[in-house]
Amino acid sequence: MSGVDDYYRTKISSRNPDVGQGAISGPRSRGPRSTSRGVGADSSGCSDGECGIQPEVFDSDLESEIGDVGKATHAKKMRKWKSLAKGKFEKMLLECIVNTEEIPPDYGNMYVDPKVIGKLERVTRMSLLRPKAFGHGVLAGNRVTGAVLWGPPGTGKSLLAKGVARQSNFNMILASTAELWQKCHGDDEKVITALFSMARKIHPTIVFIDEADAMLGSRKAGEKRHIRSMMNQFLMEWDGLKSGKDAPFILLATNRPFDLDPAVLRRAPMQIHLDIPTAAQRRGILDLILKKETLAPDVSIEKLVKLTPRYTGSDLKNMCVTAATECVWEMEEDSKERTLYLRHFKSAMVNIKATGLSKTMEHELRSFGRNEKPGTQPRRQEDE
Ligand SMILES: Nc1ncnc2c1ncn2[C@@H]1O[C@H](COP(=O)(O)OP(=O)(O)O)[C@@H](O)[C@H]1O
Ligand SMILES: [Mg+2]
Repeated sequence: MSGVDDYYRTKISSRNPDVGQGAISGPRSRGPRSTSRGVGADSSGCSDGECGIQPEVFDSDLESEIGDVGKATHAKKMRKWKSLAKGKFEKMLLECIVNTEEIPPDYGNMYVDPKVIGKLERVTRMSLLRPKAFGHGVLAGNRVTGAVLWGPPGTGKSLLAKGVARQSNFNMILASTAELWQKCHGDDEKVITALFSMARKIHPTIVFIDEADAMLGSRKAGEKRHIRSMMNQFLMEWDGLKSGKDAPFILLATNRPFDLDPAVLRRAPMQIHLDIPTAAQRRGILDLILKKETLAPDVSIEKLVKLTPRYTGSDLKNMCVTAATECVWEMEEDSKERTLYLRHFKSAMVNIKATGLSKTMEHELRSFGRNEKPGTQPRRQEDE
């Protein structure tokens, strides 16, 4: 086994004692083990004060159950990474490193179709768990280097990306396009180069680009020069990832996949759809969100499922938070004890409605799902 292989093995097994003894790694167990329903936050960034950077807060998420151990581990890693960062841009990008220790394991803070999780794990986790297989034959210089998570806003794309990083033992650099622009001060190419070099330094890494369509959208005539130069640099760096064990995995999230440049879609052959949840999925999400709440006899998860068609995960969370707040408002004293009645939810639903998609957006998402991707050539006769 090569030194690099050894490195991966020790790296994984030091984080997860089961790995390396064959306990987790096989395809039998590669699906999500999502039985635990821990409700966790997905705050990230350097939260320890070690790197002198304020923690980044994502969405108003569910409460973290990770204690000081996670914080100490992350602080230790950050100290090491800080010493590896060279130059202005790499140092700035330290702010974008997610504290994966704070993300609940086993996808405990989300309810996502296990098949979707499996698809993503196949191209991330598996390459770490099976270094020999991924270093052989066609996989040796040709692994899948990117994926796109696409679907309406609030369907859990960011949540899933972070969950996969945690479960796959990847480190994660999370950068939204807006954030990269803010950091680059006109040095578009340099910030992208630093993104990839920093990702290699802290490997194994997932580089997660949120709102990817803003930076990696179709190259239109007349668009701003700096957008194009950022994208060109990104594509060039991406092309260099086919081989090399320290190459990061590129994960993009977008509500507008149909706006992504065909060159981007070609580099991310795995495109994973997160749609508005079905009734069964809403049941799962509500179960998770309300697991610590007491429901009055006049309300049940089943009833809430029926009342919330087309609600996304984010809508459901906001609705439940509003209902609980309503209940607290009615209480005379501060207490952890409360019972949520149907009237609290009904009142919340007056304000929190399902996020409606415009007809055009729905149509465009549907077309994308049917594989009518931009740049797709009509099939030739001999392909039939
Ligand atoms: N499938 C889900 N399971 C549990 N919570 C969810 C789910 N989808 C969305 N949420 C809630 O909505 C919030 C926003 O979701 P997010 O991942 O940011 O959506 P997106 O990135 O697709 O816009 C999450 O932080 C979470 O609280
Ligand atoms: Mg998001």
